Amino acid sequence: MSPMKNFITLNDLASPIKTIQLAKSCKKDPFGHVHLGQRKTIGLLFFNPSLRTRLSTQKAAKNLGLDVMVMNFSNEAWAIEYENETIMSGLRSEHTKEAAQVVSQYCDFIAIRAFASLTDQKRDEEEVVLRKFAAFASVPIINMESATAHPLQALADGLTIEEQVTIKQPKIVLSWAPHPKALPHAVANSFIGLMNHTKADFVITHPEGYDLNHAIVGNHKVEYNQEKALEGADVVYVKNWCSYTDYGAILRTDNKWMMTREKMKQTNDAFFMHCLPIRRNVVASDGVLDHAKSLVIEQANNRTFAAQAVLQEFLTNG
Ligand code: CP
Repeated sequence: MSPMKNFITLNDLASPIKTIQLAKSCKKDPFGHVHLGQRKTIGLLFFNPSLRTRLSTQKAAKNLGLDVMVMNFSNEAWAIEYENETIMSGLRSEHTKEAAQVVSQYCDFIAIRAFASLTDQKRDEEEVVLRKFAAFASVPIINMESATAHPLQALADGLTIEEQVTIKQPKIVLSWAPHPKALPHAVANSFIGLMNHTKADFVITHPEGYDLNHAIVGNHKVEYNQEKALEGADVVYVKNWCSYTDYGAILRTDNKWMMTREKMKQTNDAFFMHCLPIRRNVVASDGVLDHAKSLVIEQANNRTFAAQAVLQEFLTNG
């Protein structure tokens, strides 16, 4: 396989499992390759808010000796135009064509966070922001959560499962949970991508109307009865997403699908996972989040080593 050009989904990796193993070795010896990134720079461009991704990616880069530049595009940069051959007489002042080439002169890597609009499904599916930057940049583009994927989160989740779950073929359940705001599908999509490479009995559970993109779900089992799905689970990964078929819609906000200790008691003493941030007592109860089997803080810790492994692959393979 030729060296990775960009990291936009897990499919860009030669082997997500090998990258998770590399993340494990980065965690054991975070500064073991501090010379790899010396005299190189990564630019982190944020079109949306972040706590974990912003800090863990900086930490990962610094562990490898990289310089880091961070810019909030939502309020600090010129508004970017993405359309080709357009008359830029509106509010957008700078075209991706120049922006991507200019940032490429300052940086050896460009990492981008650009969420889904959840109003324009076609544009979201096309990953316009990341793909346009990739088209005009002369350095690799790294996905820090895009419209449809959050692969750095999936790698951190994979590392957390690898470290914590000793059962050979665990039952892993991805469960929808309620949320007052319309949230994207990126985390769920990339978790399913991770499951494509994981030996597990994997079940996706959500209310009717919340089916994810069939092209991503593939042949994985979907169970509309949450209670049934949770029976015997070893890992319960909870996440909200808005409707995909009725794109961007919130179909229900009642608390019937919230994760509670009572529901967790029906599992095989399962670990609880969530990518964070999480709304307490809306998505999951205090009792679930504060329980010894909750892995949410370790997942966030592993974000550093997931990002470090991806950067190390780029730095090693050119
Ligand atoms: N999980 C995650 O991506 O967190 P942030 O949105 O805070 O970066």
